[in-house]
Amino acid sequence: MEKLVVTGPTRLTGEVTISGAKNAAVALLPATLLIDGVCTIENLPNISDIKISCEILEKLGAKITWNSKHSITIDTTNITTTKAPLDLTSKFRASYYLIGAMLGRKGEIEVGMPGGCKLGARPIDQHIKGFEALGANVTVEKGKIYGKADKLVGCPIYMDIVSVGATINVMLAAVLAKGTTTIDNAAKEPHIVDVANFLNTMGADIRGAGTDVIKINGVEKLHGNATYSVVPDQIEAGTFMLAAIATKGDLTLKNCITKHLESITAKIIEVGGNVEDYGDSIRVWMDKRPNKANIKTLPYPGFPTDLQPQMGVVLSLGNGNSIINESIWESRFQYTEELNRMGAKITAQGKTAFFEGVEKLYGAPVYSSDLRAGAALVIAGTAAEGITEIYNLQHIDRGYENIEEKFRKIGANIERVTEE
Ligand code: EPZ
Repeated sequence: MEKLVVTGPTRLTGEVTISGAKNAAVALLPATLLIDGVCTIENLPNISDIKISCEILEKLGAKITWNSKHSITIDTTNITTTKAPLDLTSKFRASYYLIGAMLGRKGEIEVGMPGGCKLGARPIDQHIKGFEALGANVTVEKGKIYGKADKLVGCPIYMDIVSVGATINVMLAAVLAKGTTTIDNAAKEPHIVDVANFLNTMGADIRGAGTDVIKINGVEKLHGNATYSVVPDQIEAGTFMLAAIATKGDLTLKNCITKHLESITAKIIEVGGNVEDYGDSIRVWMDKRPNKANIKTLPYPGFPTDLQPQMGVVLSLGNGNSIINESIWESRFQYTEELNRMGAKITAQGKTAFFEGVEKLYGAPVYSSDLRAGAALVIAGTAAEGITEIYNLQHIDRGYENIEEKFRKIGANIERVTEE
């Protein structure tokens, strides 16, 4: 078993280069199934979710060549099966994008129910509603999803809930459908715009991504023969911004889009941090204990749920009492018990957590319950006095490229250790 051993406290300083966005990349890879040809994707994050996505595509018949650690060329000319491998698809959430992509490409898909972080109920009713509106028949039986469509025909679709996954998935299914699809009440996250930009580069006709109405004019074919670079990871950037604040550090993040970071920047200023915005890089620094603040997570452009645990570390060290209201996921406060082992004073009740700020955290053995909880614990361990051992690293490795190396480069005393 592997663990991260962090010895603190350390004031993080220096430069970090932000990787390509995990949540964009895990949608771009299945989106290549819509292309009858070859394309190259660059700035891919080197994380386990991407490696699994590539394995799945290969099992479906795609040919993948790694050009470098962050670039692949995919040939999806010959897709030989519509049955996705159960053992691989159950390992992560984004395997649900195979449904939209394969319905578009082959009119058929059989895939296991998606896995991923345990954040409470994660229904896919809005995805199914969208596919059925386009003319597909989707059934869920014994842990498997079966989708079939003789023909997909564009139509207006209203999402009852703002859902990242359903917006992207329905967009994938609609790209090769006949006629025009409009998705109303669409999610607006940067990765939705990225998937639309990718598909448009390959010949799709998608307009309005990034607003709450997306219009997709179906096209006959996607041509491929193009190179696309994945958007910088908003959440990885936010993680390091909050690491700078929690450790009273001074970090400059390279390769980010600061427009995507506005809700985080605003909260950092509210807690007393400093931000200098250079458009494609950002400097964040802190020279005192954070002020208290209240947070409510919301779909983009609101404060992202995927940065809620990292913000929780900052508020646990805040000067006063703070409240976080988690409005997206019902169980995203599991990390608070781990922070309490480190001396934090947090009471979580349902979707609300109350933070009584403490002056210091102390090292302890802790367990990462999900991806972002794991990142929060790395930040907490760096800020805390003494030794923190973080277990369950498979969650962190799914979404952060080389987290210990990136933290070490900015001064953290962090090591990955294999335990018998
Ligand atoms: C995406 O999950 C991200 N995952 C999550 O990131 C992120 O937390 C989430 O969006 C919100 O930003 C990927 O992109 C792979 P949703 P997704 O559909 O698409 C409800 C991380 O740490 N809902 O936007 O699954 C749902 O229960 C991960 O990187 C329905 O009710 O999230 C939730 O309350 C964790 N029916 C809300 O909508 C549906 O059909 C938003 O979920 C779909 C969703």
